[in-house]
Amino acid sequence: MWFPGGHFSLALAVWHALLVLGLGSGSSALSCYSRIFSFGDSLTDTGNYVRLTAKNPSPYGAPPYGTTFFGHPTGRASDGRLVIDFIAQELGLANVTAIRTSTAPADFEHGANFAIISATANNGSFFAGKGMDITPFSLDTQMIWFRAHMQQNLGTNVLADALVALGEIGGNDYNFAFSSGMPRERVRAFVPAVVEKLAAAVEELIGMGARAFMVPGNLPFGCAPLYLRRFRSARAGDYDARTGCLAWFNRFAEYHNRVLTARLDALRLRHPDVTIVYADWYGAMMSIFQGPERLGTYESQTLYCHVVATKQCHAVDLGAPYATTHPRTARGMGRTRRRQCTR
Ligand SMILES: *[C@@H]1O[C@H](CO)[C@@H](O)[C@H](O)[C@H]1NC(C)=O
Ligand SMILES: *[C@@H]1O[C@H](CO)[C@@H](O)[C@H](O)[C@H]1NC(C)=O
Repeated sequence: MWFPGGHFSLALAVWHALLVLGLGSGSSALSCYSRIFSFGDSLTDTGNYVRLTAKNPSPYGAPPYGTTFFGHPTGRASDGRLVIDFIAQELGLANVTAIRTSTAPADFEHGANFAIISATANNGSFFAGKGMDITPFSLDTQMIWFRAHMQQNLGTNVLADALVALGEIGGNDYNFAFSSGMPRERVRAFVPAVVEKLAAAVEELIGMGARAFMVPGNLPFGCAPLYLRRFRSARAGDYDARTGCLAWFNRFAEYHNRVLTARLDALRLRHPDVTIVYADWYGAMMSIFQGPERLGTYESQTLYCHVVATKQCHAVDLGAPYATTHPRTARGMGRTRRRQCTR
C-alpha cells in the first residue's frame, strides 16, 4: 500500500515551483538549464515503475491513468501531467525520459528521470528494524541508477548546466509507516533520517558537479483522501475547521518541511556557489484547500457522481484540480458535501 501522490493534480504547485525558480512564462531564464535530472516517487515517476513491474501489472498502467491528458496510460500515477512535465515544458526541454523506458542515448539529451512510484527516501535496512516488511525502491536505488547513467555519459560534464529536481521524496517513508499502524510519534521520529537522506544525495550530486537544485517539501497529506478515510475522527478538534483536513498530519508535514528547510540552509552555507531552491508544494496545495472557489466551479461534479459506484457520493468542492481525481481516492477529499447522484 502506498500513496500514489500523483492523485494530487498539482496545477498550482507547478506554477509555484516555477515561480520560485524564477521561470515565469517568457522568462529569459529558460536557457539556464540544458537538462533535468529528476528523483522522486509517484509525484514524479513518468514510467519507471510500470516498466519495472510489467510482469506484475500495477493499476498505473491502465485507465483512468493517462486519460485526461495523454489519452493513454503513460505510467504516471495521474490521469494527466506531473509537476516535472510542466517544469520541463517551461524550461523548453523535451519530456524528461524515465530511465527505464528507453535505452537510446538520444532520449536522454535533456536529462533523465529516476523517480519511481512507491519510492522512499530511506532504504530497506532502515525499515527492516522497524517491523515494516517492505523492500522499497529508495533514493539509494535511484542514486545507483544515476551513477550508472552518468558512466554512460562520460566525457561531458552534463551536471554543470542541469537542474536537479530532488523530490518530493520521503512522503512514502511516512505513508508506509502510518499504514503499518505505527504510533504517530514513532513515525515523527523518522523525519531527521528522511531529511538526512535528501541532504546526502545533494552532497553527492554537488560532488559530481551539480550546481542547481529544486527540493520540494512534503504535501499537506492531512488533506489526502487516504488519510481522511483511514484516520477519520469523531472529534471536530482533529480537523482544521477551515479546510476539513486532519490537523495533526498537516502539522507533521509542516514539521518535516521545517527540518528540511533548515537542512537546506546549512547546505547553502557549505556550498555558496550552488543554487538550492526549496519548492513549497505544501503552501501551493493549501492555497487550493483554503480557497477552492478561487479556482472556479467544480465542472465535473456530475461526471464524478456517475463514476462513483454508490447511490450517494461526495461532491468535492475543491475546484478544477480535483475534477479528474480518481474517484476511489477522491472520496472524502477535503471539504465535502453529501449529495445524491444524478444517474
Ligand atoms: C511530451 O510527451 C507528451 C506525451 O507523449 C507529448 O504530447 C508532448 O509533445 C511531449 N513534449 C515534448 C516537448 O516532447
Ligand atoms: C542504507 O542507508 C543507510 C543509512 O543512510 C546507509 O548507511 C547504507 O549504506 C544504505 N544501504 C544501502 C544498501 O544503500
